[in-house]
Amino acid sequence: MTKPVQGFSKLTKEEKIEWIVSNYTHDSESAKYLLKRYWNSDSDLQKLHDEFIENTITNYYLPLGIAPNFLINNKLYAIPMAIEESSVVAAASKAAKFWLDRGGFKTTILGTEKIGQVHFMFLGDTTKLKTFFNYIEPKLRSESSDITKNMEKRGGGISKIELRDKTSELANYYQLHCTFETLDAMGANFINSCLEQFAKTLEQEAQSFSDFNETEKNIEVVMSILSNYVPNCLVRAEVSCPVDELTDDENNATEFAKKMIQAIAIAKAEPHRAVTHNKGIMNGIDAVILATGNDFRAVEAGVHAYASKDGKYTSLTDASMEDGVFKFWIEIPLALGTVGGLTSLHPLVKLALEILQKPSAKELMQIVAVAGLAQNFAAVRSLVTTGIQEGHMKMHLLNILNQLGATDQEKSTLTKYFKKNTATHSSVVEAFENLRKEND
Ligand code: MEV
Repeated sequence: MTKPVQGFSKLTKEEKIEWIVSNYTHDSESAKYLLKRYWNSDSDLQKLHDEFIENTITNYYLPLGIAPNFLINNKLYAIPMAIEESSVVAAASKAAKFWLDRGGFKTTILGTEKIGQVHFMFLGDTTKLKTFFNYIEPKLRSESSDITKNMEKRGGGISKIELRDKTSELANYYQLHCTFETLDAMGANFINSCLEQFAKTLEQEAQSFSDFNETEKNIEVVMSILSNYVPNCLVRAEVSCPVDELTDDENNATEFAKKMIQAIAIAKAEPHRAVTHNKGIMNGIDAVILATGNDFRAVEAGVHAYASKDGKYTSLTDASMEDGVFKFWIEIPLALGTVGGLTSLHPLVKLALEILQKPSAKELMQIVAVAGLAQNFAAVRSLVTTGIQEGHMKMHLLNILNQLGATDQEKSTLTKYFKKNTATHSSVVEAFENLRKEND
């Protein structure tokens, strides 16, 4: 059995590789060769990537694709998407084109409020704690002014600091529930720095607050951290058109609209379907979040919490048909940044933001929400018409052929063949084997 390693982080990159391949792979030479094949020949670029995280041994590539023709509030965007799943970019592009011919996407920012909390324990009289809080609230702000002054100059900063009594949920538990405006920054560092300063002020001031007894003076801060649940950092994206313009064949249009609405109603009613429905939305959202250097884990956590805000997990999109107009929309919380973090460090992130015309955080929220809505429209449209496999397998075909080791010539022949024939995993394997036999 492999022994625990001491001081792994202090080893050089070569030494780390040597250790991992010799202890955990069956063919250490091949593993080493593979890891190094993914190194970038530009040593500066490689160093940059090495330093994003710790214990780096190589790079892990994801394809970066473009979904063009997104008309959003009358402005045309080409959206960069980083994702490994075939058919996502194709579906986004198809939905973009579909709505381009029908007036495009309209979006509205419903809020930009970010949240952070200082969680603490207080054993004593709640009324005294409230008086204490009112007394220190201005101090909480003034003692964090070094952290907030630049953000304030640009129009952001601390919006509100509230004392919340959480003792009905957990004995002695209170919080400072704080809201922030972080403008174009996602704001995690700013918020966490403010919160840690609030925590210090809170504990220190309690020590000298004369109304408190000895126990009350010992406020115990447990932790200070931003919340990724941001229900008021919200964006809405919408598409609409006359029902009879939904399909080429007017007679089928109402039928199609009804089926779309039924599919959304099912996702609203039933959590198993809602999760998959929302997963399809996140296919679009995560891909743009990744391409633009934002934190997809934060967004995922916040979005799914929002999907269950009324006590039951439900669809993030909605649809209606009224007075002959079909409407399809999403409301989604997205705490994003277009400055700071990876946005100014990762060369491809910088380029992705340039392709998006250097958006503000608000503009990026709108673009990302549209990518989610478009993805969901494309998925549900396929589901209620042809089924998902037809389109998906066409896109997945190349992955299967690559797994089988097909040559370029074979790929070209089989791609043509599957334009007219149904692609399943076994039918692709069979057609590939037949082609090989023919050519032997
Ligand atoms: C696959 O990645 C996403 C879908 O399952 C979404 C959906 O079912 O709505 C196709």
